[in-house]
Amino acid sequence: MASQFLLLGVLLTLTCSVALASDPGPLQDFCVADKNSSVLVNGQACKHPLPVNATDFFFSGLHLAGNTSNPVGSRVTPVGVPQIPGLNTLGISIVRIDYAPWGINPPHTHPRATEILTVIEGSLKVGFVTSNPENRFFTKVLQKGDVFVFPIGLVHFQQNVGDYKAIAIAALSSQNPGVITIANAVFGSNPDIDVDVLAKAFQLDKGVAQYLQSKF
Ligand SMILES: *[C@@H]1O[C@H](CO)[C@@H](O)[C@H](O)[C@H]1NC(C)=O
Ligand SMILES: *[C@@H]1O[C@H](CO)[C@@H](O)[C@H](O)[C@H]1NC(C)=O
Ligand SMILES: *[C@@H]1O[C@H](CO)[C@@H](O)[C@H](O)[C@H]1NC(C)=O
Repeated sequence: MASQFLLLGVLLTLTCSVALASDPGPLQDFCVADKNSSVLVNGQACKHPLPVNATDFFFSGLHLAGNTSNPVGSRVTPVGVPQIPGLNTLGISIVRIDYAPWGINPPHTHPRATEILTVIEGSLKVGFVTSNPENRFFTKVLQKGDVFVFPIGLVHFQQNVGDYKAIAIAALSSQNPGVITIANAVFGSNPDIDVDVLAKAFQLDKGVAQYLQSKF
């Protein structure tokens, strides 16, 4: 009898693993960020609910194109808690991405969010790479109206594969997804990572590693 209960317990443990796949769920209707608070919490402290109004849940501006005059030819316009205090604790945010012709949103990861992206205008080649050791590369060319997912934490990018500007809107499963752009993080850290570490890691001459550091 006891062994039957033990077996049942093991089966339950195996089948009922809890999947927590986004920011923790809120324990109240809303927690509008109090930007004045000096309290350090995971997210931001809540302002008193009484003076909260619709403005706290509102942002206007995603109709405006971002400035893509930069070396990569893209611009991300984020809409997170700094833009919408009412997003605090809700585990979601949104961005607009503008691309110059052949511009790229360079390889990067979001440590805290899965991303779902839709093309509003133009054509984008997108892709992501899975973890070691496989490092499988999943890629696709998207047209207006197409939707693509970048799983949490994986390195991904987009490239405008057209002679006209492109626009995408992407939602992220965190109020603060974080961005680690691979090139900047590795070759543009502050202070620099030792050049011999980079040379060995990337199998480069030190001069080439130094050159790459000078670019970031
Ligand atoms: C933050 O402080 C300023 C100035 O003291 C005040 O006007 C504003 O209402 C405060 N904001 C919040 C969210 O409490
Ligand atoms: C909402 O409250 C803010 C101050 O907290 C105020 O500036 C704004 O006018 C209010 N908006 C509405 C629609 O009542
Ligand atoms: C876009 O950015 C470039 C480079 O920083 C700048 O020279 C240019 O004035 C900006 N254009 C607009 C419309 O803000």
